[in-house]
Amino acid sequence: MKPTSRRAAAFDQWIRTAFVQMNTELEELYFAQDDRACVEGIGEPVKLALCEEGRAHVMALLEEGNTGDGFDSAFGVLGSVGLYLGALRRHELTNPAREERSPFPEASALAMHVGASLGMAPRFSTGHLATHNHAVAGVRKSFTTLPDEFLFIDENTRGILALQRAADALVRIVPIGVSSPVADTLFEAAQQALRDVIRFNERLYATLDVERFFFSVRPYYKPYRVGRQEYRGANAGDFAGINEIDLLLGLCRASDPYYSQLLVDKMLFMLPQDQARLRDCMTHRSLLDELLALADGHAQAGWFRRNARLFLGTCELFATYASQHHDLLVQRFIEAPAGRLAERHLPALTASGPPLPVLLRALETLRDLRRAAPRADLATRHDDLVRLRRLVGALD
Ligand code: HEM
Repeated sequence: MKPTSRRAAAFDQWIRTAFVQMNTELEELYFAQDDRACVEGIGEPVKLALCEEGRAHVMALLEEGNTGDGFDSAFGVLGSVGLYLGALRRHELTNPAREERSPFPEASALAMHVGASLGMAPRFSTGHLATHNHAVAGVRKSFTTLPDEFLFIDENTRGILALQRAADALVRIVPIGVSSPVADTLFEAAQQALRDVIRFNERLYATLDVERFFFSVRPYYKPYRVGRQEYRGANAGDFAGINEIDLLLGLCRASDPYYSQLLVDKMLFMLPQDQARLRDCMTHRSLLDELLALADGHAQAGWFRRNARLFLGTCELFATYASQHHDLLVQRFIEAPAGRLAERHLPALTASGPPLPVLLRALETLRDLRRAAPRADLATRHDDLVRLRRLVGALD
């Protein structure tokens, strides 16, 4: 996973050293103010240095014009140029709301060249900071050296890895079938992984500093333009595993227009291997549908009762995770501090992303699909899960 070109390596090294130092310096300046959301006109010489030093690396790579060093090298360059553009957005050196194209044409060209060659969106995504953030002697890529940023990206990564483990276990049930006696170990593995996610999220909730996260970490995840096009910010959901769980459990359906839109929109934010996994997963019948089809005629069979109970236990843990993400993490770290923000900063908070209430409603929809909550306005699997629970006597 080493960048092979000397110029790519130099850019990578700059990101891990001077870049994080300059961002950290700027964050300390912003955070020391009475109005922590104020960015413009603060630390101008540092911003200029950040912009120019990064540009020199970008120019060197553009001149080299080389994306032929293999996937890892190209992916590393996309991450570096993406973090650079994300930082320029954070420091208000660019803002998609006031521009029609990126004021950084060289960085845009590099990102588009490498992104297109990889089959990914030309911006940094979760893979760059989480599952494929290659540590060099313990130093992983980040925007700053703030302890709360490391806490956030490390716990996010642990959570994502655990969700991927749950998805891996569930997808292995498909070839053996949900009636197989062997499915028990796979359901148990998925449950253990989901318990881990819940534990990591509890830890993140308890230890992450709300103000630091809101004012010094989250702003790096804003949307920005690459060339003419605006790309939404990265989020911890940009990996296939979460949707594989949705689809395999049957709580969300790829044929549902709301959910399929979400899948289409996130496709290019994922690594190519994740894109392939998700596409494959969309072709299977869900475990819930399999169980319901078997219920007529087999509901009293030992294998049915055992596997249906394990399935329901897995759904319960997934519902706990979904509630935790929305009701704890999003509420504490986004909704609450946004509510305390001065009126004049609200447009900046949502600039070019969906307005906060719209974003919250979308996340609520996902939570309720995953909880199979009873909702008159949403086609959740509530009634089907109630039926299954009754069949196996798992309902009081
Ligand atoms: C401080 C902690 C966290 C906060 C404040 C937070 C907030 C958010 C927000 C606001 C979004 C929507 C992004 C957008 O559309 O712009 C989102 C998406 C998402 N986040 Fe988090 N998140 C946090 C931690 C995590 C962790 C640790 C995980 C995984 C274990 C996670 C998994 C997801 C997923 C899967 C999505 C995509 C939407 C979905 O499928 O649910 N998040 N998060």
